[in-house]
Amino acid sequence: GNIRYSVPEETDKGSFVGSIAKDLGLETRELMERGIRIVSRGRSQLFSLNPRSGSLVTAGRIDREELCAQSTPCVVSFNILMEDEMKLLPIEVEIIDINDNTPQFQLEELELKMSEITTPGTRIPLPLGQDLDVGINSLQSYQLSANPHFSLDVQQGPEGPQQPEMVLQRPLDREKDAVHYLVLTASDGGSPIHSGTLQIHVQVVDVNDNPPAFTKAEYHVSVPENVPLGTRLLKVNATDPDEGANGRVTYSFHKVDHSVVRKFQLDAYTGELSNKEPLDFEEYKVYPMEIQAQDGAGLMARAKVLVTVLDVNDNAPEVGITSVTNTVPENFPPGTTIALISVHDQDADNNGHITCSIPGNLPFKLEKLVDNYYRLVTERTLDREQSSRHNITITATDQGTPPLSTQAHISLLVTDINDHHHHHHHH
Ligand SMILES: *[C@@H]1O[C@H](CO)[C@@H](O)[C@H](O)[C@H]1NC(C)=O
Ligand SMILES: *[C@@H]1O[C@H](CO)[C@@H](O)[C@H](O)[C@H]1NC(C)=O
Repeated sequence: GNIRYSVPEETDKGSFVGSIAKDLGLETRELMERGIRIVSRGRSQLFSLNPRSGSLVTAGRIDREELCAQSTPCVVSFNILMEDEMKLLPIEVEIIDINDNTPQFQLEELELKMSEITTPGTRIPLPLGQDLDVGINSLQSYQLSANPHFSLDVQQGPEGPQQPEMVLQRPLDREKDAVHYLVLTASDGGSPIHSGTLQIHVQVVDVNDNPPAFTKAEYHVSVPENVPLGTRLLKVNATDPDEGANGRVTYSFHKVDHSVVRKFQLDAYTGELSNKEPLDFEEYKVYPMEIQAQDGAGLMARAKVLVTVLDVNDNAPEVGITSVTNTVPENFPPGTTIALISVHDQDADNNGHITCSIPGNLPFKLEKLVDNYYRLVTERTLDREQSSRHNITITATDQGTPPLSTQAHISLLVTDINDHHHHHHHH
């Protein structure tokens, strides 16, 4: 029958393959005598006969993968010529695979893009690894680095693992993780095991899945009514974690009165609110408004803004005088009413709280009737010889800081008692 040997690949030159002499039942010396030799078949000689030992040995390093690629078994056939009998003896040598190749991917790195709204369960085919070895020394398994989002599924074929696929396990969120770094490892079954890796970068593509969100639900500010025009009163801020236009926020008034639009300016890009007209506490004390933030794709959020105007003592008291009489007889009894005085101040609180006074050296006094109403009365009998005409200055002062005051004058003529009587009798 045929003579069949086997030898592992990659052994050193001269490695023993089989004992030809023994298997032909010949003595070593007979090999030479009978002219036994290998007949080359064109291909460069892989084996040679050692005439002294009668052994078939390797003529050089043999690479199984170069010789047979993936086909198995890898058998080299040739003949031995027995010259004396002109007989050809077929020999087969099987080259045994050793694990001299590592599984490899054609790429080192794979860049994938996945929309962040990709549904879980979606499968992404991955590149195949390759190991030139055969059998158990060839690629046996794939592993994916541990991660919460992707799992690996590999269809098993008759020859081992087929297509590796990545399966999305849970929703992606670009705002949490914009890139996922994974490693796919392909391993063979040799001893020791060899493995190759592929870096996978999954870039999560933004979807406008986040509306803007204000940093506060309500923004409040109190400003004195005399703030200069264009003062930055407050700044609203809405953030949107989406990317690019999806995350670019602009601001606008939502539901506001005309008065708000007239008085205030909202910067669409910075969210700064400023006053473009003077504020007047006496006109409006609070301006409620609603501001809207909108991202580039139209998602929006709203926040309330309340601008409270603080009173500033910018109004002097107003004094109203209702004269009862312009003349008073000199002997009239104390307590005669000369005038009614009403005061008013548009400011609030202390800024509008008024006290009224007259100079202290006069024969008159102010009596308070109710809040903001006074009566000017004579305090003692007037003496015409001392003063026939009085110019009484009434000072109304508020309690603002600084206080504002207003003066008004009442002019009074003191008439002669005789004149008076004379007139009286006359009528
Ligand atoms: C808005 O608020 C966020 C979060 O507090 C902050 O990081 C950001 O700088 C603010 N933006 C502006 C324009 O103030
Ligand atoms: C009263 O006095 C004030 C200031 O002292 C003056 O402005 C005003 O004209 C006077 N009134 C009369 C009627 O004299």
